[in-house]
Amino acid sequence: MSFRPQRILGIESSCDETGVALVQLGEQGPPQLLAHALHSQIDMHQAYGGVVPELASRDHIRRVVPLTRQVMADAGVSLADVDLVAYTRGPGLAGALLVGAGVACALATSLGKPMLGIHHLEGHLLSPFLSADPPEFPFIALLVSGGHTQLMRVDGVGRYELLGETLDDAAGEAFDKSAKLMGLPYPGGPHLSRLAEGGRENAFDLPRPMLHSGNLDFSFAGLKTAVRTHLVRLGWLDDAAALADPANREALVDLAASTQAAIVDVLVKKSLAALKETGLKRVVIAGGVGANRVLREQLNRACQRRGIRVHYPELHLCTDNGAMIALAAAMRVQAGLARPSLEPVFDVMPRWPLADA
Ligand code: KG4
Ligand code: ZN
Repeated sequence: MSFRPQRILGIESSCDETGVALVQLGEQGPPQLLAHALHSQIDMHQAYGGVVPELASRDHIRRVVPLTRQVMADAGVSLADVDLVAYTRGPGLAGALLVGAGVACALATSLGKPMLGIHHLEGHLLSPFLSADPPEFPFIALLVSGGHTQLMRVDGVGRYELLGETLDDAAGEAFDKSAKLMGLPYPGGPHLSRLAEGGRENAFDLPRPMLHSGNLDFSFAGLKTAVRTHLVRLGWLDDAAALADPANREALVDLAASTQAAIVDVLVKKSLAALKETGLKRVVIAGGVGANRVLREQLNRACQRRGIRVHYPELHLCTDNGAMIALAAAMRVQAGLARPSLEPVFDVMPRWPLADA
């Protein structure tokens, strides 16, 4: 008989969030999230303006066991009732990945249960299956995080075809780097988005890189350079006092709104192009930038006009979390794709194309 786990523990530690979750697979029906807990390291890294890998690893070590205890207590399930321990195998920071993999493998081995390494982006990609309105295959997926910007055709679990990706900065990086130039704290995406409220989207002329490239690739490095050039022209570059001066606030709000509009515009138009090219009528938005309100509004509006359904993960599952790792493991097992191991594998993959997962 094939392996059929009921309760799957998921551990995520690829970057600056420690996430743990317990997902249950019933005989029928969709996978169910029993409990999940998350610790974000944002406050710790903020002082450095970005993630410090060594500090990230150390903090994952501090958090992962207490978070696991909390999840088990919240779910009212004992560790003995866990059938499979899943962890993020990659891509991500090597040291941070090793913490989650080490703890997952040690836990599974001590329980005599199998373990399974999961691709971080597959977690993001499948995360809308935990929402109240789950998608159906096939669909187009727009993966937009701090490290990745990809358009994918998804025909089923494990059937992912890369249609296009960024040639340089990711969409999240474009938000974060522009925000940093505007004097905003790390990670800048949500801060820039808040600053942009009420701003004029056309106040500053900013490039829409690769919009007419004829393919589905992206490039965001030029946008950051253009933001920088505007700040130089205004005389505000690296001038914290000027950036914080209320007299300059209106123009800064306009610059934030224009930057956000440029990023969103490219993401929406390329997603529509992917839908048109494949003839598919569903799109899933996943990854941290998927939490962006303007992106959601514009995409919803454009897709509604074309009879296309848009699916998102629950807002709290847009950024990194353990639930998506447990879910991806559950869906891989359900699809007969996973080969959970009883031997500690412990082989993290800091660089790992999703097509090879
Ligand atoms: O998926 P994620 O949590 O981590 C990675 O795997 O990278 O994505 C984090 C990224 C950061 O660049 C962050 O600034 C961005 O998502 N982000 C946002 C928003 N919320 C998070 N960007 C724009 N608007 C938001 N509301
Ligand atoms: Zn992520």
